[in-house]
Amino acid sequence: MSSVLRILITAGPTREYLDSVRYISNDSSGKMGFALARAAAARGHRVTVVHGPVALDPPAGVRCVGVVSADQMLRACRRAWPRHDVLIMAAAVADYAPAKLSKHKLKKRDTQMVLALRPTVDVLATLSKRRHAGQIVIGFALEDRAPRRHAAEKLDRKRLDAIILNSPRAIGADGATQHVLVRGERWRRLSRGDKFASAVRIIALVGRLADEATRRQSASKNRDAPASGNRSAADPS
Ligand code: CTP
Repeated sequence: MSSVLRILITAGPTREYLDSVRYISNDSSGKMGFALARAAAARGHRVTVVHGPVALDPPAGVRCVGVVSADQMLRACRRAWPRHDVLIMAAAVADYAPAKLSKHKLKKRDTQMVLALRPTVDVLATLSKRRHAGQIVIGFALEDRAPRRHAAEKLDRKRLDAIILNSPRAIGADGATQHVLVRGERWRRLSRGDKFASAVRIIALVGRLADEATRRQSASKNRDAPASGNRSAADPS
């Protein structure tokens, strides 16, 4: 039976502005992250959602923190992460941001415009590196070619406990066929159906992984602890 967990979930897209009105982003709606938040809260877990710009109502009983850019998402998550047991990174963080942000609206010209981009920070990889013993990290992978191979590489590269595989059709949609790979296990299908059904299964998986992590930790504590009980039993003095 799993206990109450503190779960940090990210949701939605990020926006990377190039001037006062224009930005780079993607079609993520935030539905998956919010479905996860609802499913986790319904199981009695304590939930924080850090989300980019979305047109969704905050789920009841969930703490929501709104951000805009990848940098802001990292800052909000970094602050929250030490107080959580689990991270589920469902946000579609933009991979690139304009290298320069113009304070004013850029004027139209007749000539070609080249936009210089810089890679954004990888929120998931950064938080995964900064975890303390027992914290669980789950990522998503959006893949259109060799999906399982690429997702498995991400699981290793970002040192995740599990990864959920999505196809680009899932972006913004209500339903999605999703598969999950838990470290050391085989691929399994999560659901063909709606995102809430997937979310319920992912939260059940989180409970199982948390139970296993607790058991591993107490087993290693017992191994490390001096075997005082045994010694006194064997020692007549
Ligand atoms: N992610 C992140 N920060 C980024 C990019 C991605 O935290 N700057 C997270 C996503 O939230 C997701 C996982 O990393 O949980 C994988 O995201 P995905 O877009 O599938 O992969 P990328 O790492 O961006 O690699 P690529 O786009 O080359 O497939």
